[in-house]
Amino acid sequence: MAEKNDIFKKVISHAKEYGFVFPSSEIYDGLNAVYDYGQNGVLLKNNIRDYWWKSMIQLNKNIVGIDAAIFMHPKTWKASGHIDAFNDPLIDNKDSKKRYRADVLVEDYIKKIEQKIQKEIDKASKRFGKDFNKEQFTSTNSKIINYKNKASSITNRLDISLKEDDLSDLKSLIEELEIACPESGSRNWTDVKQFNLMFGTKLGASSESSIDLFLRPETAQGIFVNFLNIQKTGRMKLPFGIAQTGKAFRNEIVARQFIFRMREFEQMEMQYFVTPGTQKEWYDYWKKTRLKWHYSLGIAKENYRFHDHEKLAHYADLATDIEFKFPFGFKELEGIHSRTDFDLLNHEKLSSKKLQYFDTESNQRHIPYVIETSIGLDRMFLAVFSSAFKEELLEDETKRIVLKLPNILAPIKIAVLPLLKKDGLPELANKILDELKWDFMVSYDEKDAVGRRYRRQDAIGTPYCITVDHQSVKDYTVTIRDRDSMQQERISIRGVTKIMHEKLDQKKWFNKI
Ligand code: GAP
Repeated sequence: MAEKNDIFKKVISHAKEYGFVFPSSEIYDGLNAVYDYGQNGVLLKNNIRDYWWKSMIQLNKNIVGIDAAIFMHPKTWKASGHIDAFNDPLIDNKDSKKRYRADVLVEDYIKKIEQKIQKEIDKASKRFGKDFNKEQFTSTNSKIINYKNKASSITNRLDISLKEDDLSDLKSLIEELEIACPESGSRNWTDVKQFNLMFGTKLGASSESSIDLFLRPETAQGIFVNFLNIQKTGRMKLPFGIAQTGKAFRNEIVARQFIFRMREFEQMEMQYFVTPGTQKEWYDYWKKTRLKWHYSLGIAKENYRFHDHEKLAHYADLATDIEFKFPFGFKELEGIHSRTDFDLLNHEKLSSKKLQYFDTESNQRHIPYVIETSIGLDRMFLAVFSSAFKEELLEDETKRIVLKLPNILAPIKIAVLPLLKKDGLPELANKILDELKWDFMVSYDEKDAVGRRYRRQDAIGTPYCITVDHQSVKDYTVTIRDRDSMQQERISIRGVTKIMHEKLDQKKWFNKI
């Protein structure tokens, strides 16, 4: 655990030191759970968004993109259920004055029981060695059976109190389990209250005429309210998708773990409209397709797993998370939800406008069902960034920190480095840069010894360094250094653009989806 925390701390400080992510308004000591992306961070973030956008829209004939406004009519959030149901149960500790999600306190308690079970398994596996039969052990060992029973009865009770909105039972559960505040150690709790996660604001100049608005907590609703506009103007036939990326805002009670849980974040969402009755088939299709998208980036497959939901959001009849192994453990990265006709139906009721699809084959109108894929861009950034972060011990016993980012996502694709600041080398290097910059994000660096410059590029994940040396001036060749293997090859300057296009070919990545 200590090691995991250590790595996570290193990832956060690396992100800051190399211009990826800064605490927002840091000169005023920052703003809790709000972050700014720096000069390298914005490029990485744009590349992730672009990879998603192209794979969704450019590569799918029947998916189109939109960009809806963040401000939406207030009735939107009544129809979507966010006014009534987008709540978290919160509880305050009277001594530390810290605020917690009541359900998370109980879930953390259950996790501790699970850790105890794992400890027993590890002990037994050591004791019995090769002869250890995990299944038999866990189903017969009385200590483990007791732990399992306890965890499952707490889980059941938590599920019921959440489902029935029984906040006083949730408090009783916390008291019965003697859960203490992690900060003060005290069990002096307030009652549990519901807390709506939407940020409110006002539209209009005068207090009489202004109306109350919410900052959107998900981008999806911008798609639903435009469903008919797009279906008609795009002459879309079921099944078809509408996708968009954009900011979302949530007043999270527990905002922690760097950019994992933020109050202002970005989502990449796609709503896939299907004929009612076919939703299970499309749900399975998008589960598979989205996992393939993640795998296509070459991050080890064991970092991903599905977590099917038992407790469903207010709009879903089936839901799963693609979880990723972040430095602090497996956590949700993307959600895939079968949203039924919940949203369109409610928008139809509240707006009194028909939001139906006319099926020319059956000659009937109906409200389509929806499969949604929804991924947080910042979370994807953290997944990519933390899994790329490597500390390597080299053959000469020196250490290097390298970001082994997928080439397609790297902020800077190529660095051009003149070996010395004289003898015509900078001029030739700039000529190469001027040729490459139209197609690639290229940087130029002539400060310090070339070894240090390579390290700087490794640290931001630049896949290729082109070095211009004295031989370059004589025979018009340069070396290209590969970030991961650190091998260099000498090539003709005339072939540089073509080789870079081959090495950084986007098709290679998209073909894996
Ligand atoms: N439209 C469905 C929806 O919003 P969600 O599971 O609440 O579903 C989807 O959110 C994704 O948005 C999550 O899987 C996560 O990647 C991202 N996300 C949600 N809350 C976030 C937060 N506070 N900070 C960063 N990303 C968040």
